[in-house]
Amino acid sequence: MAPGTWHGDWIGQRLPPAPCWRPPHPALRSDAHHNDFGGLPALYLRRAFRLDRPVHRARLHATARGLYRASINGVACGRPALTPGWTNYHRRIAYQTHDVTDLLRPGDNALCAVLGEGWFSGRISEHAKYPAGHYGAQPWYLCQLALDYEDGTHERIVSDQAWRVSHGPIAYSDLLNGEVYDARQELEGWDSPDYDDRSWLAVTTKPRDGTVLEPEISPSVCVTEDIVPTVVLRSAGRLLVDFGQNLAGRVELALSGKSGAAVHIRHGEMVDAEGRIYAANLGRAAQADTYVCAGDGVRRWEPSYTIHGFRYAELTGIENIDIQSVSARVLHADLPVSGRFSCGHPLVQRLQQNIRWGLRSNLQSVPTDCPSRDERLGWLGDAQLFAGTAAAFFDVRQYFAKWLQDIWDAQAADGTIPDIAPFISPAFDFFADGAPGWADAAVVVPWTLWRRYGDTALIARCWQPMMAWMDNLERRFPDGLRRGAGNDYGDWLNLDAPTDVALIATSLYAQIASMMADMASALGRTAERRRFAACFKRIKASFGTHFLQDDARLTSPTQTAYALALSSGVVPTHKRARMTRHLVSEIEARGRALSTGFIGTRYVMAALSENGHADVAYDLLLRKEYPSWGYMIEQGATTIWERWNSYGDGFAEPGMNSFNHAALGSVGQWLFEDVAGLRGVTPGWSEIAIRPHFDPRIDWCEAEQWTPCGPASVRWGFSGGELSVRVNIPAGVRAKVLLPATRDAIRQQGDAPVARTCSLVGRRPSTVASIGSGYYNFMVRL
Ligand code: BGC
Repeated sequence: MAPGTWHGDWIGQRLPPAPCWRPPHPALRSDAHHNDFGGLPALYLRRAFRLDRPVHRARLHATARGLYRASINGVACGRPALTPGWTNYHRRIAYQTHDVTDLLRPGDNALCAVLGEGWFSGRISEHAKYPAGHYGAQPWYLCQLALDYEDGTHERIVSDQAWRVSHGPIAYSDLLNGEVYDARQELEGWDSPDYDDRSWLAVTTKPRDGTVLEPEISPSVCVTEDIVPTVVLRSAGRLLVDFGQNLAGRVELALSGKSGAAVHIRHGEMVDAEGRIYAANLGRAAQADTYVCAGDGVRRWEPSYTIHGFRYAELTGIENIDIQSVSARVLHADLPVSGRFSCGHPLVQRLQQNIRWGLRSNLQSVPTDCPSRDERLGWLGDAQLFAGTAAAFFDVRQYFAKWLQDIWDAQAADGTIPDIAPFISPAFDFFADGAPGWADAAVVVPWTLWRRYGDTALIARCWQPMMAWMDNLERRFPDGLRRGAGNDYGDWLNLDAPTDVALIATSLYAQIASMMADMASALGRTAERRRFAACFKRIKASFGTHFLQDDARLTSPTQTAYALALSSGVVPTHKRARMTRHLVSEIEARGRALSTGFIGTRYVMAALSENGHADVAYDLLLRKEYPSWGYMIEQGATTIWERWNSYGDGFAEPGMNSFNHAALGSVGQWLFEDVAGLRGVTPGWSEIAIRPHFDPRIDWCEAEQWTPCGPASVRWGFSGGELSVRVNIPAGVRAKVLLPATRDAIRQQGDAPVARTCSLVGRRPSTVASIGSGYYNFMVRL
């Protein structure tokens, strides 16, 4: 809808901005549910109208400064759960368009909405919501029902002073704290046309201002799966439910109870030694819901505008309540699946599953660090590190395109990029000057999307803000030596192996300079390509002078330093092999284990496998002792932990210890690209490479990746002294196949599913085939 075509006003009910809010009017009934964090009751909004002639087509355009759920005649419009998503609401707000033609009927109709606070005026992170909420003191709703009649005439019903408002059963519903729902306050039939709303209040209105209203481009957060508990433990007055999976979502109950009986639900990722919800790592996110029964039979209920990170739920207060069923509703951005990975080793199989669950939990309205504690922020570092892995599992093209806009909205006039987007001032001012590896998402994410989807229009749109960031860096670090900035997280959460922050910052600077040169070239921006090629050279020279020694050691000789240097193009070719040996020695010195934090973990496996040490990478992958991904799994992890030592002889320091952090799951990209061996060569994957690193310890491996032309897949496996590699290449894609030279080289196999065969016999040292679309089967005799 074009900007000028909105006609309604924002509607709501003005509420006093007091921490302990009490209803100002008897119609806004909410007897006991004021609360000490200032959560507001949800608003129930309705507008009755008559249709006196047949409707050909009807569209509802709707949004909120807050979160809304719209319905017509009691039927929900669409199935989004937390809508609209989080943006800088002062600048832009996304709206949704629902086809509601089938929901209307001749005669009386009711257009309704339930309005909650969400990020607009609810709590965000650890910051208190008051005095004014982060974006405003109360939520507002805006909608427009566009009616096209069969007789060719048109009509609009918009949000305006004709609407009525009341409070209802949702006493408050806060993203972090949870919801209180009092079924005794339900407004029976409130969303049907014949409901008598004369006792309701008139809404207050607020004119639209210059805030951009734009169609939502990213898939909304929805319920994507329901999970039934694996274990339910009952003890006096208490039910402990284990869903067997750490996730982001909420609990749905079917229950009945005496009027006034209340069940309280606490959510946690872990339980303590006494079998109680472990809440110490949640900070000030209460993650607690309350349902008060109305005493009128079995009801099914889930909260509305809250989301929790949990595997366990503890229900108390159930003495007078019959809980008939409990399930977990999984919530995240409803992204299309774009890839699958599986293999013959149970640990690795579980790892890829945990990575996927880590992504599902953190690809929320914005990519978050974790879905549980009082943080849940769009940390740029985490997202840029897992962007490649996310793109392997899900189609994130629109998702990240939306979040990039959040980054640009957060960018300062001098080009500075913060650590977090969406960014709120003054609450987040401490994070305004983005740290290396965090702010660099501004280049890494557009580059990742462009490589994956081949969308040059996207990088053209991002060009100006990316340039502003690069100009900023060049102004600050003209000689290419980047000394770090902002909070300088360095190799965040490494294991007693801190890396010189300037070394990390300079390597990452080289990395983004070369990405900029690539993108300039794709956009035909020759002068800028030259500029960034020269910038890269300068950085590489500085890196050589300041950090690189003659024997290919680095001045800060950590695993992360070596892995990052090898991956950033700053190491001269003749020093790469030696440097890789230093990396391997560092790993061996730790007992063949990692000491890497967020940054190093993203690069270390590929640095090994691409430089001839895939065996060491496999050792790390298959390791079960601390520290390793396998260790997390051995401890029962169903997602990726924030720290290698989140749990050991007890819980790690609770201030910052989530069990569902996606960052260390960045190894997923390596599983697809180097274990399965499937990666794009050209932007948009018109050409791909099949280059697996085989290891009999995992027996077989299979992966599929959707290219813009269709699915490409690889399956390799060992059997009877042979290694077979099956490849499927979609139409319009070419593939280079790189297989190891073996004693007997490679022979083709002509069994049934093979559509084409290639002769690869006798090519050494590595065997390469260049193939077009079709099914292929290669055999390597071992
Ligand atoms: C978050 C991280 C984030 C970091 C910045 C933490 O509290 O959870 O994942 O990147 O802060 O260092």
